Amino acid sequence: TINKVSLIEIPKVHDERGFLAVVEKDAIPFAIKRVYYLYDVPTESSRGGHAHKEQQSVIIALSGSFEVIVDDGNNKKRIMLNKPNQGLYIPTHIWREIDNFSSGSVCLVLASTDYDEAEYIRDYDQFLLSVR
Ligand code: TYD
Repeated sequence: TINKVSLIEIPKVHDERGFLAVVEKDAIPFAIKRVYYLYDVPTESSRGGHAHKEQQSVIIALSGSFEVIVDDGNNKKRIMLNKPNQGLYIPTHIWREIDNFSSGSVCLVLASTDYDEAEYIRDYDQFLLSVR
């Protein structure tokens, strides 16, 4: 459910030379299998628009900002990400859309699975059937 969607604080090290953030084993609730990122996304674009049967993920605004809409079929939330040391944990069976990308933003996704189109749910009605 949407209650399992949570913001994760990524530990950072700061000194006069700047910040260094570390995503290590204990920071996120799964083992990372794949990393991908969205960049040069036009502001008017909407990304995502799917849920996953298997994949859990953590989304990080490495640069700039964007908004993530999460939806468990009963409840929806819109969350702005704009801090490179903050991650949004998304469990399985959550519909997500990402929009309002700022210019130059980078959306990093840490994923628990290899890419497998078969574990995507890309049809919203099918998603509702799967969670209700
Ligand atoms: P898509 O799922 O539409 O991206 P978004 O998460 O923004 O909705 O993926 C866009 C294309 O990229 C689609 O053809 C599938 C492909 N793709 C891969 O080949 N490997 C991957 O790891 C991912 C995430 C996507």
